[in-house]
Amino acid sequence: MDGFYLISKSESPKKNTVLAGFAILGLAALVGLFMIVNTPNHESTILSQYKTEEQEFTDYMIKFNKNYNTDEEYLKRFKIFRENSAFIRVHNSLDKDWTLGINQFVDMTLDEFREIYLSNEITVPEEEETEDFHREHYENVEAPTSIDWRSKGAVQGVKYQGQCGGCWSFSTVSAVESSWFIAGHGLPDLSEQQLLDCGGPFGNYGCAGGNIVYGFSYVQKYGLTSESIYPYQAATKTCNTSKQSQKIASIKYVVKVTANDPNALMAAVAVAPVSIGAQADQAAWMYYKGGIVTGSCGIVLNHAVNIVGYNNGNNPPYWIVRNSWGSWWGENGYIRIAISGGNGICGVNMMPMYPVS
Ligand SMILES: *[C@@H]1O[C@H](CO)[C@@H](O)[C@H](O)[C@H]1NC(C)=O
Repeated sequence: MDGFYLISKSESPKKNTVLAGFAILGLAALVGLFMIVNTPNHESTILSQYKTEEQEFTDYMIKFNKNYNTDEEYLKRFKIFRENSAFIRVHNSLDKDWTLGINQFVDMTLDEFREIYLSNEITVPEEEETEDFHREHYENVEAPTSIDWRSKGAVQGVKYQGQCGGCWSFSTVSAVESSWFIAGHGLPDLSEQQLLDCGGPFGNYGCAGGNIVYGFSYVQKYGLTSESIYPYQAATKTCNTSKQSQKIASIKYVVKVTANDPNALMAAVAVAPVSIGAQADQAAWMYYKGGIVTGSCGIVLNHAVNIVGYNNGNNPPYWIVRNSWGSWWGENGYIRIAISGGNGICGVNMMPMYPVS
């Protein structure tokens, strides 16, 4: 306000008095105006709330590079964004072990998300359901209190599967990269696209879904070439047999870890990163920002990821899980999930396995 300049020493005392009078009048007018504006008026409160949310949505569109082609689409996405943002605010006010945040998926409904990014229900194939293969590979291992394979250089940077339900290929490839590293060959960057395009005869459907069991079956027969030779395209294409034949890494066999047993799973993770199934179509995953997920995510497996470490000394103890939704999702692309018995939170104990190179 200009009022402060009125006390300036260079001015004559009389002029100051006059100006001070004006200043007081001006201040009174401002206070009156403030009171008028602040009179309860629900219509304008709602309007200003709406404007704030629309500004948030505009910022969101810029940050995540969103373009909506029609006004209809814009309004539809804005409505979904407002509902999801409200859900996220409520969740974050409940003092849970994990927080949700505004990310690239907040303008989508759960149903849309499931359709685009996830597989249909993933089941362990019948004939393999009851048997543990090569359990001797991990069962006498004494699991340390904590382990993180990332710090050993055994895990590639987080990738982004795009609008393709090819999670199974990312989980398979990540496990093979790590097993190749553990076998002493260094860490390769291997091709998910090869599995999408060429893994069909083994029971997979490219971007329409697949299964880590069948992903590993393919790798056992053909091995994998590199990401640079067979780069990712986020769409299922025809298998390029000349690229397929340029093998970079291979596996000898797959260890099937005892299901629904967190102690067995910890011993296995102590030996190598482990591919798992999880249910990932709930808010806990979709809008995950950070912290340790302790519940509310179901056990119908529709996503495949990798456990690359754990901390059993923390309260609550947790798994470190690598996802394939880009590094801007969650904790730099990772999610921590509480260690628990039975099926595990989000079903993470249900279908663990890892390859050996
Ligand atoms: C397969 O990849 C090679 C490059 O390695 C390319 O020259 C060839 O055109 C591709 N074949 C098909 C059928 O796309």
